[in-house]
Amino acid sequence: MDIYRIKGGKKLSGEVEISGAKNAALPIIVACMLADGESVLRNVPDLMDIRTIIKVLEFLGAEIDFNKEKKIVRIQVNKIKNGEVPYELVKTMRASVYVMGPLLARTGEAYVSLPGGCAIGERPVDIHLSGFEAMGAEITLEHGYIKATAAALKGTSIIMRKISVGATANLMMAAALAKGKTILENCALEPDIVDLGNFLIKMGAVISGLGTDRIEIEGVSKLNPVNYTIIPDRIEAGTFLIAGAITRGNITLKNVIPAHIKSLTETLGQIGFDIKEDKNSVHLGECRKLKGAMIRTLPFPGFPTDLQAPVMSLMTSIPGISVVIETIFENRFTHIPELRRMGADITIENNIAVINGGQKLSSAPVMMSDLRAGAALIIAALGAKGTTEIRRIYHSDRGYEKLSEKLSGLGADIVRVKGGNP
Ligand code: UD1
Repeated sequence: MDIYRIKGGKKLSGEVEISGAKNAALPIIVACMLADGESVLRNVPDLMDIRTIIKVLEFLGAEIDFNKEKKIVRIQVNKIKNGEVPYELVKTMRASVYVMGPLLARTGEAYVSLPGGCAIGERPVDIHLSGFEAMGAEITLEHGYIKATAAALKGTSIIMRKISVGATANLMMAAALAKGKTILENCALEPDIVDLGNFLIKMGAVISGLGTDRIEIEGVSKLNPVNYTIIPDRIEAGTFLIAGAITRGNITLKNVIPAHIKSLTETLGQIGFDIKEDKNSVHLGECRKLKGAMIRTLPFPGFPTDLQAPVMSLMTSIPGISVVIETIFENRFTHIPELRRMGADITIENNIAVINGGQKLSSAPVMMSDLRAGAALIIAALGAKGTTEIRRIYHSDRGYEKLSEKLSGLGADIVRVKGGNP
């Protein structure tokens, strides 16, 4: 298995181009199954998770061509071959459960292995399933597989018990082809959901309320294949901004939507970093006197849980006390033992981490436990004294495109060592 070897202490500088959003591309690729014919998606990042969802769709009979250089995915749907979506595909990525909505809507049945994904807590799918039930589906769980059947999905009113990005996306896709009107309440407001909604509207779906907590979908009998460009990845953008900050660098993100990372740029501003925004770029410049900050992870537009681990690495370098409260996932502090091995002073009380920052971390062999914990370790290593070796980097391949190339382009001393972890 490959490892990253990072020599810390280099100030990052220059420009970095942000890729398309993984969490928007995943449901949009799946939503192509809602229409027969060829859909063309642009700005699709080349990531392990994208390759996995493509395999899932190919398993279901779609013909897919991914031009990785041009970042264009062509998806041809003729006949859907409905079968058990195997554990081997679903175990690596929870978003595979997205196929349930389109499969139910188009074929009246779906068999999907209960998902796996990041090791960040329980992550059940009950909100997806109870939504399908409310629309008339029958759900059973057998041998680790979810079986859903519905003669015809019917629009209805659904109040989701908790804000869920995945459930909002899945139910929107199912409702687009259901009979009658579906009203979804307590919806996720994430830009990825708005992007999926805009894609569905382009296909011919009748949707209002995107970006609010109440989305109304008037079902139609048929959708059409379309061409669509995926929004930029706000989590990748945030990760680079934090990487720049820990090195006290001077970097510009290109191809971003500044409003999507407002909660992060505001936090960086409170800490004392100078941030400038333009229409599609964000610049991190000189820092003033730095001081600790407090963040609480929340659904969008609050501080994203996916940037919690990366920002905690930064906080270890900021003089004074910082506080991080994780409210979305119950087991999302797995980066902390690794950061402590690099010298971080962090105490945990339930879902609250208190960071006593200001000391430079020092290199140590560390291991990624999930995608965003992995990003936190890379950031820590960029700011640390000495050379850090990071193992299990397949986690970061799931969600960061050309990570070492992009960081090297900003002046980081990072190499990916092939087979570095025998
Ligand atoms: C998505 C993102 C992930 C991000 C997360 C929260 C994708 C592919 N992944 O994950 O990067 O960290 O949103 O912003 O877009 N829950 C239930 N029952 C359900 C569904 C969710 O209890 O049926 C809970 C989860 O355990 C969690 C919370 O709801 O505590 C939010 O989860 P959700 O928004 O669904 O996350 P994902 O869609 O899996």
